[in-house]
Amino acid sequence: MEAKGKASRNKTLTIEENEILSLRQEIVYYDEVKEGMDYKDKIICDDVINVLSCLPDGFADLIIIDPPYNLSRNFGTVKFEAMKEDVYEEYLMSWFPEVCRKLSPKGSLYMCGDWKCTSSMQRVIARYLKVINRITWQREKGRGTKANWKNSMEDIWYAVRDEKNYHYDVEAVMMRRKVLAPYRENGQAKDWEECDGGKFRNTHPSNFWDDISIPFWSMKENTPHPTQKPEKLYAKLILASSRKGDIVFDPFAGSGTSAVVARKLGRHYCGIEIDENYCLYAAKRIKNAAMDSSIQGYVGGVFWERNSKEEQIKNNNNK
Ligand SMILES: C[S@@+](CC[C@H](N)C(=O)[O-])C[C@H]1O[C@@H](n2cnc3c(N)ncnc32)[C@H](O)[C@@H]1O
Repeated sequence: MEAKGKASRNKTLTIEENEILSLRQEIVYYDEVKEGMDYKDKIICDDVINVLSCLPDGFADLIIIDPPYNLSRNFGTVKFEAMKEDVYEEYLMSWFPEVCRKLSPKGSLYMCGDWKCTSSMQRVIARYLKVINRITWQREKGRGTKANWKNSMEDIWYAVRDEKNYHYDVEAVMMRRKVLAPYRENGQAKDWEECDGGKFRNTHPSNFWDDISIPFWSMKENTPHPTQKPEKLYAKLILASSRKGDIVFDPFAGSGTSAVVARKLGRHYCGIEIDENYCLYAAKRIKNAAMDSSIQGYVGGVFWERNSKEEQIKNNNNK
């Protein structure tokens, strides 16, 4: 559980042997999975296929899906093997229709993928829901390669059940940007304000996200999970597409990012994860969230650009 030879500035979360018993109390295990079980604010340790039929249809206001991509990768005890595209599509079809049944009539769903699996995802989602956007996340880090371009972007498909009736709160996800060419009209600042840290404007978020880094060792949200999503990224999805008190469902919860962020933002959650170790990390992060609800990069009710910590502090001190 302990990261070996951890450097002093390394904030990666660890779990001590003596914490495991109490963290296990927070998890619903496969032998407790049955119809009528308490699923609200729970991390369920089991195969998603076993759990879905025990959850009520339409219970989730927002579903965030970050499944294994079509790559060979180990997730703790789970080995996922890359496969032909049509076989990967069959894999998606083995759980997606049932996951979809859990979405409320006015609900929204997001699914993350990379360039290789994104087409299969789009085809599968479009069979059941109305796809209304594709967000491109420029995640910055990616493994260099000599024979191909480095892969440093991901897609996030955005779909709803009813395109005439869904919740989207743009005011909750505004971006605070530094104004490079401040325009004045009759001597007055036009759509920007001057603060201690400089000149800023709140702008509408687009479907290209270049303000979010993947979690790394110096961030306190970091865990040993190999494909952990950033809290800031999920905060945008949750703030835009759910209200306080709504339920966020994540069928491939990993280290529990969706549940942690839901908790920090006053939403309920339900997550399924097959690997016990990742469930323990999720449980520990959720416990920590009760004491610290901060989300890196989301300060003062707005989302900040990368590397703007100083401005965030100065700006918030002004208020
Ligand atoms: C891409 S990761 C999700 C990471 C997560 N978004 C986070 O921030 O930590 C996919 C997760 O699905 C889990 N998984 C794979 N197959 C599963 C299954 N059949 N049932 C439940 N979980 C599964 C893996 O163990 C892995 O943790």
